[in-house]
Amino acid sequence: MKVLAIVGSLRENSFSEQVARAAGDLSPEGVELEIFEGLDSIPAYSADHDPAYDGPEAVAAEVENLRDSITAADALLIVTPEYNAGPPGYLKNAIDWASRPHKASSLAGKPAAIVSQSPMPFGGIWANQSIRKSLTITGTPTVERELAIGKVDEKIEDGRLVEDQARTDLTALMAELNELVAVIAGQQAEPAAMA
Ligand SMILES: Cc1cc2nc3c(=O)[nH]c(=O)nc-3n(C[C@H](O)[C@H](O)[C@H](O)COP(=O)(O)O)c2cc1C
Repeated sequence: MKVLAIVGSLRENSFSEQVARAAGDLSPEGVELEIFEGLDSIPAYSADHDPAYDGPEAVAAEVENLRDSITAADALLIVTPEYNAGPPGYLKNAIDWASRPHKASSLAGKPAAIVSQSPMPFGGIWANQSIRKSLTITGTPTVERELAIGKVDEKIEDGRLVEDQARTDLTALMAELNELVAVIAGQQAEPAAMA
């Protein structure tokens, strides 16, 4: 299974990136996790630049790259910090681009898991819930487990997630994502019910 991690921080060696790398290490066997590169070059969404509305025939290459990367993956992992009680604007912007055309987008039907992190005790839970709400609207099935890693600065040492509970929770999240992919693949493979 290929998981595309979209890391909602543009900061070098961000906590989000370190959590995403840990998720790769803690995933079930057979899971390959790749971090999406290029979030910072995705243009701000405008329907004037979107073929789904009155825009040009094609989206910008950076948007196409995002959509193609999502399509090529079996599942998504969103790892995000919280900015002013929500997700960073550029992460939401990427989701907005990926969400069109509505119901036929790269996100529709793509299993996803969400992790937020913060040095604050609540671990960016509002950003986490906000991303889930957006993904739900785009038809992206999300794993039920809500993982918000608080006090993240105390749980990462030398770029490695070391705290036991966070590692256990992340392991469980990635196992659930793996299961969700299998369940959805099974549903797609089921023959149509007899009339
Ligand atoms: C503009 C801005 C707003 C922030 N707002 C919040 C917030 O509302 N809640 C919170 O827990 N942390 C907030 N933070 C702290 C970041 O979420 C925190 O530093 C996070 O760990 C950074 O993640 P990163 O290392 O992946 O970039 C904010 C940081 C910035 C830059």
